[in-house]
Amino acid sequence: VRDGNGVKGLVDSGISEVPERYVQPPHERIDHKLNSCSNLPLLPIDLSKLDGANRDRVAEQIAAAAETVGFFQVVNHGVPLELLESVKVAAHRFFGQPPEKKAVYLKGVSTSPLVNYGTSFVPEKEMALEWKDYVSMVYSSDGDALQYWPSECKEVALEYLKTSSKMVRTILEVLMEKLGVTLDESRMDALTGFKMVNMNFYPACPNPELTVGVGRHSDMGTLTVLLQDGIGGLYVKVEENFDGGKKGEWIEIPPVPGALVINVGDTLQILSNGKYKSAEHRVRTTSTQSRVSIPIFTAPRPTEKIGPLPQVVDSDGMARYREVVFQDYMNNFFGKAHEGKKSLDFA
Ligand code: SIN
Ligand code: FE2
Repeated sequence: VRDGNGVKGLVDSGISEVPERYVQPPHERIDHKLNSCSNLPLLPIDLSKLDGANRDRVAEQIAAAAETVGFFQVVNHGVPLELLESVKVAAHRFFGQPPEKKAVYLKGVSTSPLVNYGTSFVPEKEMALEWKDYVSMVYSSDGDALQYWPSECKEVALEYLKTSSKMVRTILEVLMEKLGVTLDESRMDALTGFKMVNMNFYPACPNPELTVGVGRHSDMGTLTVLLQDGIGGLYVKVEENFDGGKKGEWIEIPPVPGALVINVGDTLQILSNGKYKSAEHRVRTTSTQSRVSIPIFTAPRPTEKIGPLPQVVDSDGMARYREVVFQDYMNNFFGKAHEGKKSLDFA
């Protein structure tokens, strides 16, 4: 498992069947017929319209998506489209390197304090491993990113993070506004103070019906931005009925050229006292091509206390979650295998 070349190394060695440790129990396998699902596509939201006369309507679309699916896609988001293409190319460039070039970023031996290369999620805790390799790059400053992040992808990853951060802030402001809450700048900074770019690599899999790229989970942070390539396979469990799906149903977030996927994380579900949904999601594998996805996680500063916002608790009459220090929430999240929305039980 820790041979320094992850799942890609396995595939490159020429296996014709997945090893036992990647075989999911039947109830975690993904029905590949979902692939041709008949759901209405979720129409991407045009963020440029937030500036004009249609602001209210667009803000309403964002809030409605956050309350029902917890996922939506955005276009005209301000992140240059050529940059998005370069980010995907950089991800393939990173994973395409020889094993020894990636192994220097393995946990425990990483020579870069902000960078982690690995496979699956928490391999030592998992019953079955996820069919995924990844590299995580934590942001602390531009200078640190350029010094420590892998040279194969650092410039584009940093530019992607910086241009996306503006959009994340805008979306969070809209969601707070729709909640009837005004937060001051310093609290907004604290709630978005931890940023990390991941590059995920899902090699083509000889037995896609037996494996998962990522198991069922919700994200821990405030908001996630996700860039996916054209292959598809990201599925979300609908939280509340909406005009494209029913509560409890799994729907695909289809690749849309030039769009970014946005999803609500546990932190925002907690802050909103459950109004905005941190939806369970998972990723299917495919036998034909390797897929890349590049999420940016925006989360609170580790020292920040997270709990339902007082204004929301007042109008709801009760707090649905307890207050937690975000560092403790993270430790719990990364200490267990993916298991649906169980991470939220911590709050
Ligand atoms: C994830 O949610 O962990 C990955 C999503 C994706 O690859 O589409
Ligand atoms: Fe996720």
